[in-house]
Amino acid sequence: MPDVVDLRPSFLCFDDLTPYLADDGWLDGPKLFGNANPVELDVGCGRGMFLFNASTTQPKRNFLGVELDFTEGRRGAKRLFKRRQPNARMIGGDANYLLDHLVRPDSVAAVHVYFPDPWWKRKHRRRRLFTDLFADRVARVLQVGGLLHMWTDVADYFEIVKALLDHHTLFSPLPQPEERPAAHHLDYQTSFERTRRQAGLPIDRGLWQRISNPITP
Ligand SMILES: C[S@@+](CC[C@H](N)C(=O)[O-])C[C@H]1O[C@@H](n2cnc3c(N)ncnc32)[C@H](O)[C@@H]1O
Repeated sequence: MPDVVDLRPSFLCFDDLTPYLADDGWLDGPKLFGNANPVELDVGCGRGMFLFNASTTQPKRNFLGVELDFTEGRRGAKRLFKRRQPNARMIGGDANYLLDHLVRPDSVAAVHVYFPDPWWKRKHRRRRLFTDLFADRVARVLQVGGLLHMWTDVADYFEIVKALLDHHTLFSPLPQPEERPAAHHLDYQTSFERTRRQAGLPIDRGLWQRISNPITP
């Protein structure tokens, strides 16, 4: 039996977004969240642990997740829906499309990318989400001063992303956040962070700040 519960507005497909678009076609924060508070994006939000925790502990900020896998996304969005969580929304679809066509340039306070799929096999590496094009997409939507968080337990993936962002003209590296002891089962940044830490795996936590356009001579 298919899951037919209507989870709107906690879970939205691209086709559902028309009422939340501004006249110029970009997503409109106040229409989506009912306020003009800062918006943070969680790319590949999975079951939404970060969205749920962050939107609960930071009610004055809005959190928008995007997840390609509708089954995973809807599973997480059910919790947001049950709570009528006003400052968290999840969109089902491809983050690249969202970033290119729906998120207004220079509009987002932070982008979170936690444990992107590693695509271990060499022949599959080109499917990785975080490429130089993706870095440019994130740079375009982030406000100056906005933050990009990228965490992973895949050391070679982290090194590639680090090299890309450390040398990107629109990002400046910040000190890596330290690991925080978990007080309980839900006290992790994401469910992948929980499984990786419980397996004893080391995690790289990268943080970069969007800087203003470099001055060109
Ligand atoms: C390894 S999981 C991590 C989930 C979550 N961030 C966490 O840390 O628990 C990576 C997630 O990214 C999603 N994903 C991969 N490519 C994506 C894309 N282009 N747009 C949106 N989500 C994507 C996958 O479906 C998957 O749920």
